Amino acid sequence: MKVICVEDELAVGIEAARLISAVIRLKPDCNLGLATGTTPITTYNELVRMYEEEGLDFSLVSTFNLDEYIGLDADHPQSYAYFMAEHLLSKVNIKKENTHIPNGKTLRVDRTCSAYDKKIENSGGLDLQLLGIGRNGHIGFNEPGTKFVAETHKINLTEDTIKANSRFFEREEDVPRTAITIGMRSIMNARRILLIATGESKTDAVHALLCGEITPQVPASLLQLHPEMTVIVDRAALGGTSLPNSLFSDD
Ligand code: PGA
Repeated sequence: MKVICVEDELAVGIEAARLISAVIRLKPDCNLGLATGTTPITTYNELVRMYEEEGLDFSLVSTFNLDEYIGLDADHPQSYAYFMAEHLLSKVNIKKENTHIPNGKTLRVDRTCSAYDKKIENSGGLDLQLLGIGRNGHIGFNEPGTKFVAETHKINLTEDTIKANSRFFEREEDVPRTAITIGMRSIMNARRILLIATGESKTDAVHALLCGEITPQVPASLLQLHPEMTVIVDRAALGGTSLPNSLFSDD
């Protein structure tokens, strides 16, 4: 695992976009697994800047988002489809038909989930999966539990996640209680994983990710087993506790 610690969330975004843009330039028709939340916003801003000012070309890129709330229309301002359009997909030259987000309005959740896994598989798999991390160690909406779930599935959100995400809604009651998330297999099958985390509310989760026990109680801990894993954090997310030097990259 390669760990890069930078000053603040802006620097995290710049560093993460650098890595993602390198993947796009090396493989213009790459498949990117994308994430929502506050953390990736600076990354998406920087990718949009690279598109506008440096000609970073998304015309052959395909994207697959990690998750979506169940029950929200794609044009609901808190849906992840809306978030992705607002922060990245409507601002670069990506083809709409190449962008994929689980359908949160499906009437047949099981079918939607298995079709999503098939779509990722048939596309040749993910070249890079971008991840944030929840305060409770979730990735996508893979919440802490008694086992890792391999496939795309419906999940009941934990109280902690509902509370954390209520900042985006008028009232806590408005936060959907269920979501569709890709499972741990598609994430672990990605050829490369990039996890970003900022702010001190993430310190415990980051430590559990980097050197905690591998357990479904902290879904992100499984990432320790991925051979091409990069973690980019700001100082606040790393916290004060000393971590082994061997974790850190020299560049
Ligand atoms: P955040 O969410 O970026 O809004 O903190 C991350 C996550 O819950 O995965």
